[in-house]
Amino acid sequence: MDLLQRLDSRRSTPARQLREPGPTPQQLDRLLTAAIRVPDHGKLAPWRLLTIAGDTRAVLGEKLAQIHQRKEPGIADALLVKDRERFTFAPLIVAVIARIDDHHPKVPAQEQLLSAGCVAHNLLLGAQALGFGAQWLTGWAAYDADAAVLFGLGADERIIGFVHIGTPRETAPERNRPELAHIVGELRL
Ligand SMILES: Cc1cc2nc3c(=O)[nH]c(=O)nc-3n(C[C@H](O)[C@H](O)[C@H](O)COP(=O)(O)O)c2cc1C
Repeated sequence: MDLLQRLDSRRSTPARQLREPGPTPQQLDRLLTAAIRVPDHGKLAPWRLLTIAGDTRAVLGEKLAQIHQRKEPGIADALLVKDRERFTFAPLIVAVIARIDDHHPKVPAQEQLLSAGCVAHNLLLGAQALGFGAQWLTGWAAYDADAAVLFGLGADERIIGFVHIGTPRETAPERNRPELAHIVGELRL
């Protein structure tokens, strides 16, 4: 499959549909190496990656549920179940962490953030090229200060996404895509 075909066929597989097997250590190394080859104004490498696998996934879910319950004492059980389960479906989750220098003299924060977004997107494409399914999710934990401590984030760091990667239980259905005619224009001056 050539690159354009890969782009045309990219689609997310809902994380709940992902199961073992996940990438082998060699595949993971290959995937991460390709994923960080992104546009990066100023060569700042304003991102880092955290892999979440094995028993850590359930432990993470439990700790997130505890944070959630502490913050919202009356929270519905179903939401806590979701917290506990969220990271247990896919065998591998890669947290993409943007490290933003808000006061960089040349590179605006937006550009640093977008570079991290490219890493996440490359992970989706790379995972699919290796025969896996993947989905980029955030959820409250990506934005929560207590969860940030759990993930060991520095003050200048934020999670821009959790990329869940695994073997799809079934083929994800295609969804409608925006029509070019609706989103493309030509600048005429
Ligand atoms: C930054 C970002 C965060 C996202 N977070 C979520 C999320 O928390 N939950 C969700 O259902 N989809 C989320 N999505 C959307 C999915 O990743 C995915 O794009 C969507 O399921 C549509 O599938 P597609 O990738 O095949 O178009 C997010 C997408 C982006 C770019």
